Amino acid sequence: MKEKILIKNIKELIQVEDKPKRKVCGKDMAKLSTIKNAYLIIEEGKIYGFGKMQNVPDYSPDKVIDAEGKMVFPSFCDSHTHLVYPASREIEYIDKIKGLSYEEIAKRGGGILNSARKMHQTSEDQLIESALERLNEIISYGSGAVEIKSGYGLNTEDELKMLRVIKKLKEISPLTIKSTFLGAHAIPQKYKAYQTEYVDLIINEMIPMLAAEELADYIDVFCDRGFFTVDDTDRILNAGMKYGLRPKIHANELDYSGGIQVGVKYNALSVDHLEFTGEEEINALLNSETMPTVLPGAAFFLGMVYAPVRKMIDAGLPVALASDFNPGSSPSGNMQFILSMGSIAYKMTPEEGINATTINGAYAMDVSEELGSIAIGKKANVFITKKIPSYEFMPYYYGTNKVETVILNGEIWD
Ligand code: NIG
Ligand code: FE
Repeated sequence: MKEKILIKNIKELIQVEDKPKRKVCGKDMAKLSTIKNAYLIIEEGKIYGFGKMQNVPDYSPDKVIDAEGKMVFPSFCDSHTHLVYPASREIEYIDKIKGLSYEEIAKRGGGILNSARKMHQTSEDQLIESALERLNEIISYGSGAVEIKSGYGLNTEDELKMLRVIKKLKEISPLTIKSTFLGAHAIPQKYKAYQTEYVDLIINEMIPMLAAEELADYIDVFCDRGFFTVDDTDRILNAGMKYGLRPKIHANELDYSGGIQVGVKYNALSVDHLEFTGEEEINALLNSETMPTVLPGAAFFLGMVYAPVRKMIDAGLPVALASDFNPGSSPSGNMQFILSMGSIAYKMTPEEGINATTINGAYAMDVSEELGSIAIGKKANVFITKKIPSYEFMPYYYGTNKVETVILNGEIWD
């Protein structure tokens, strides 16, 4: 039996919903429902009740937490990471500081291929150990759900190894985890001149094998200039669809690649990055079920142009923010920083940023029915902040950890 928890005297309870929505779009992103001077009751790992302190029911919980001066948020949902990786890449980063671009480093066999070489020499146990450390780190910053991709294997054996590691993490971590197969992350060295053959390998060998072991929830392709073409992407997503794998793809980070359109064609759950998004891409996304997902950590770290988030929201689109936690282009999974970057880089208001990192992030990993807001019956993944003056303080006061207590599945995490 899990403890019954009453959190009382909450200065402000953030992102409450009476009628839960799966996502918020356009102008609605600027709205955020909150309750000042609130209580929250957690039972059996779920949100059982909430409201104004003056209406707190007569109730005998196992544990009472006094949150005076503090706020309660639903945990962040980080819908795009590559946090299973064999080693950091700070040495290669020096080349970046000295002026080489992400693409130039990739062309030299660095970047993703560098991680793939190391992946081959790293055991499942080592990968689990280092990933668990990263998971604990992101929990401490307020994440309650995370998507993790493969994509540093780039051969059948190592891609399956990565996916098995993610499956194991689902069992041992209190986080809600979704896994995505990203065999099409880069063209491996030995297939440099045989890109089509590598795509064939993904379609004919990797996808059937991972499907047989039920190792992935979603399928991804890095559809961009110098990586996989729209044609490659079309073939891979079509093959994935036959096994029920919904796409979540990397698109339009380096160019107007057509990635957004092919993602929408296959009813992708999300298309991610989106630095190169124009009118045509926005029109493709309108009237689709696809969540445009922006990764400010990568754009910031690589010094890229920023995705036109304001235009997207003004056109009526929803937007999610995710960390892209990976060793090459975004070595941080801190969603509080991502929330701040939403305001700093994209001029999102605090309300828009909170919607983008909670409910819309949840939608982008298809967990918005159980996470992403404070609503009766949802999983009790929430965090209590330190004493803060307002929720607007969260994006504003960037760079420090404002989370004090984390509750996952209704249990206090420490
Ligand atoms: O999302 N864009 C492609 N893939 C990753 C980078 C992974 C890496 O460099 O290791 C990204 O930024
Ligand atoms: Fe990524």
